[in-house]
Amino acid sequence: MKKLILAVVATAVLGAAPVLAGSQQAVTYVDDIKPLMERRCYACHGEYSPTFEMFDADKEKYAAMMVGPRLNSYEQMLIVVSGDEAGALMRRLDDGANTPDGQPGNMYRHLGNNDDERSRNLQLFKNWVGHWTLKRAAELTDEDRGQFKVLERSN
Ligand code: HEC
Repeated sequence: MKKLILAVVATAVLGAAPVLAGSQQAVTYVDDIKPLMERRCYACHGEYSPTFEMFDADKEKYAAMMVGPRLNSYEQMLIVVSGDEAGALMRRLDDGANTPDGQPGNMYRHLGNNDDERSRNLQLFKNWVGHWTLKRAAELTDEDRGQFKVLERSN
């Protein structure tokens, strides 16, 4: 009887392990966010877009050209999550659940071609960021900062 129980437990543990590992696999910039952004964002935020500095110096010109600041590296993404432009990514991508006026951010529509795709991709960004706050840099507490995940790659 003991042997049987052990066998059952062992099967349960070993059998469940890969499934668990799969479902808990962390979202990373390299594996998930960059490929998604290449498809959905780089037309306006890719290598031909201005740096933050250039963009900030002439926002109106670039906005009229439908060009946003360059967001094609991990470092640039950190700026809009928790750096100088903290929360910009979350404010722009939120579906309206967290915005003061209940309206989606103005980049939300670029997340997908339909509601289903948009909500799946929003969830991916949320899992990557780890702490979906719309606060600006000056408002972030140490506790907020400690909760961001933003993994670059899986080890
Ligand atoms: C059709 C062009 C276009 C696409 C596609 C696009 N964006 Fe944008 N984005 C812009 C423009 C233009 C601005 C700057 C004007 C503004 O502030 O709205 C901007 C601004 C932003 C900002 C604010 C940057 C800052 O610090 O001011 C973020 C963050 C952003 N976009 C993220 C994204 C993400 C993520 C995607 C893909 C899911 C995306 N955008 C897709 C055109 C685009």
